[in-house]
Amino acid sequence: MSTIEDHDTIRAVLWRGERLRLLDQRKLPFVEDYVDCTDAADVAQAIRDLVVRGAPAIGISAAWGVVLAAQRGREAVDVALPMLRASRPTAVNLMWALDRMQRCIAEGADAAELEREAERIQDEDLAANRHMGQLGASLLGNNVGVLTHCNTGSLATAGYGTALGVIRAGCSLGKIERVFAGETRPWLQGARLTMWELMRDGIPATLVSDSAAAHLMGSGQVHWIIVGADRIAANGDVANKIGTYQLAIVARHHGVKFMVVAPSSTVDMATASGIEIEIEMRDPDELLAHAGQRTVVEGAQAWNPVFDVTPASLIDAIVTERGVIENPNDQRMQALFA
Ligand code: MRU
Repeated sequence: MSTIEDHDTIRAVLWRGERLRLLDQRKLPFVEDYVDCTDAADVAQAIRDLVVRGAPAIGISAAWGVVLAAQRGREAVDVALPMLRASRPTAVNLMWALDRMQRCIAEGADAAELEREAERIQDEDLAANRHMGQLGASLLGNNVGVLTHCNTGSLATAGYGTALGVIRAGCSLGKIERVFAGETRPWLQGARLTMWELMRDGIPATLVSDSAAAHLMGSGQVHWIIVGADRIAANGDVANKIGTYQLAIVARHHGVKFMVVAPSSTVDMATASGIEIEIEMRDPDELLAHAGQRTVVEGAQAWNPVFDVTPASLIDAIVTERGVIENPNDQRMQALFA
C-alpha cells in the first residue's frame, strides 16, 4: 500500500502573489512550460485557449483572475467578472467560483480578502478530491480494471483529481489491477495528459483509442468506467467530455459499472436536466488538423461539440465530497444538494 503523496506530485495552477502561473497544458507531455497571467484578461485568454482546462481548475483560475483584477481596483473587477464568466460555457465550476468571489465583493472584501477566498476555493477543492478518492475507491471490488476518459487529474483540479483521484486511491489501496485511458479525440486529453500524469506518479496505464472502448468492455477487462463532470443537473444528468455518453451506453450493454466523480461545485441545481446545459462548440479546425498539420481535404466541414450529456439513468454512482448518490435521480440529488 502507498500513501496519497506517492501518487500526487503535480500542480497546474500556482498563485505567485501578483501573477498566476499556469502549467501550459497545450504543450504537454513533451514540454513543461508555464504561462504567467498578470491580469484577468490573461486568465480569461488562458481558459479560452485551454492553457488551463478541466472544470475545477477553470473555476480556481477564474477566482485568481478576480484577485488580479481587484489588485488594480474596482473598475478592473467590473470588467473582469463578465469577461471571465464568458470564457467557457459548460463547466459550471467557473460560474460557481465567480459567484463566490462576487458575494465577497458585495460584502465589501478588499484584494487581500479576495486572495484568501481564492485560496480557500483552491484548498477546498484539493480536500474534496482526496475525500472523493476514498469514497469512490470504496465502491470498487478487488483486482478491478477501470477505464477513464479525458483528464480529470491534478492538471484539471487543485490536485489529486476527481475520477483520477478515485483511480489514485484505488491503486494506493491495491484494489485496481488495470487502468485504461481513452485518448479523447480531438484534443487528446487522455493520451497527452492522463497518460503523462499516471506515468509520472508511477501508476501503470494502457492507452486505448476512443473507438476501442466497446471492444475493450466486451473483452471483460474493465469493471468500472470512472469519469469526471463539467456540470451535473438537478436530475443527475451529467455533462462531460464528448464521448462520455457513448461509454455509458456501452457500459450498460456489457454490465460494466459507470461512476461519475465531481465536487459539489460541479452540481448545478438551478438546471433541471441535461437538455438545458449549454454544450461548448469549438473550432472545427481542432478536428480538421492534427498538431498544426491539416489531415482532412481542403473545403471539408467538421462539427465539433466538446461535451455531451449522459442521462442519469445510465449512471450507477455519482461521487461527491458530500457523499455518494447511487442510481441518481431528482429525489436523491435533492436529498444531498437541496
Ligand atoms: O475541455 P476540457 O479539457 O476542459 O474538458 C474536461 C473534462 O471534460 C473533464 O472530464 C471535466 O472537466 C472534469 S475535470 C475534473
